Amino acid sequence: MELNKSVYHQRRQTVLKKIGTDGIAIVFAAPEQRRSNDTEYPFRQDSYFYYLTGFPETESALILNGKEQTATLLCRHKDSDSEIWHGFRYGPDAARDQFKFDQADDITQLTEHLKKALPGHRQLYALWGLYPERDPEIITLWNEINQIANHRSINGSTITPENLINLASILDPMRLIKDEHELSLMRIAAEISARAHIRSMRHTKPGKYEYQIEAEILYEFMSHGARYPAYNSIVASGKNACCLHYVSNRDQLRASELLMIDAGAEYQMYAGDISRTFPISGRFTSAQKDVYDIVLAVNQASIEATVKQANWQTISSKATQMLTEGMIDLGILQGSVEENIDKQNYRRFYMHGLGHWLGLDVHDVGGRFDRQGQPILLQPGMVTTIEPGIYIAAADDIPAAFHNIGIRIEDNILVTETGNENLTASVPKTTSAIEAIMQT
Ligand code: GLY
Ligand code: MN
Ligand code: MN
Repeated sequence: MELNKSVYHQRRQTVLKKIGTDGIAIVFAAPEQRRSNDTEYPFRQDSYFYYLTGFPETESALILNGKEQTATLLCRHKDSDSEIWHGFRYGPDAARDQFKFDQADDITQLTEHLKKALPGHRQLYALWGLYPERDPEIITLWNEINQIANHRSINGSTITPENLINLASILDPMRLIKDEHELSLMRIAAEISARAHIRSMRHTKPGKYEYQIEAEILYEFMSHGARYPAYNSIVASGKNACCLHYVSNRDQLRASELLMIDAGAEYQMYAGDISRTFPISGRFTSAQKDVYDIVLAVNQASIEATVKQANWQTISSKATQMLTEGMIDLGILQGSVEENIDKQNYRRFYMHGLGHWLGLDVHDVGGRFDRQGQPILLQPGMVTTIEPGIYIAAADDIPAAFHNIGIRIEDNILVTETGNENLTASVPKTTSAIEAIMQT
């Protein structure tokens, strides 16, 4: 517990240093989202806010005051009536002490705190646009402060913010490199996700429904302390796998078809993100195996190339090339590899990227290029998914044996000093290993 809290404190210290004595930063907690009438979706804290605070409550805000080098939390006050209905809340005093803020106050005092804190800083950092309804509040306040300052400026020296800066420019590069605390949680998220995929393989039978397999996945997540999936689970049989983010999960499983599952647990805010594809009957047909082995080879080659100093664009291009070669070998593309890549014909069957960063968000922040437009080379501590796929919808110009085969094989890869660590290696992915586990 102590370790947890000091990690957030340290991150705030890093940001305070980076914004310097001229900078002030504001970060908001996530709002609650209404689901129906007076019920809400399960609350999930904002990833940035959580990264800097570890604080789990809505209606909160963090002010980082560069001039004072202090962190102030604004949160809901203690309220015994509300707590009877809605559960425990820390209140400012306990929040300050337990989460190591320099100060804490009631969220109703946010404007007052900002009015006092903004003057004296030239740079105003916020996550502009993240919660668009909050931006005008800050801008209005900034205007007010500017007007007061302008009136005094005849003889005055009041400094007010002159630059509005996106705090993501500081936080995204930090979040891109996972620290040990984050990695310990990501390993657990990955392992719980892996167990759920293995369970799905064992429970899949012709005649069951996609949602019944989804239930097995959620059972495994929750049984291991991951209350929620990191994203809506995709349980896609047959042609449904050709819809990349199919989530209705309501069709019946047919023995002749494949089942593609893309599902990951969220464990203490960190995401797992695994895809596996396997035959509902327990045995791949030869056409299914032909397509599968192409995708598998690309998954494996791409993982091997995911090492320190590697260029993601190079890894991606190589994957596209291998997939295109495979499509030509299958006979679903005609002509040369170069021509099919130049004309992007492969996009008919492979229409997404090779992967994305993974962390607090399933599609985690950080980008693949730096602010100068240069590729970000892979570094130890970065975690990326590797998820090549081939999706063949039924069409007159495609041999019938390949119709409605949709395959994605996705792993979560941590770049290390010496190579990489596949966080999701425990889920079988060769056709023989999958067939074997489906018999157990
Ligand atoms: N699960 C969404 C993705 O793989 O990007
Ligand atoms: Mn993914
Ligand atoms: Mn996925």
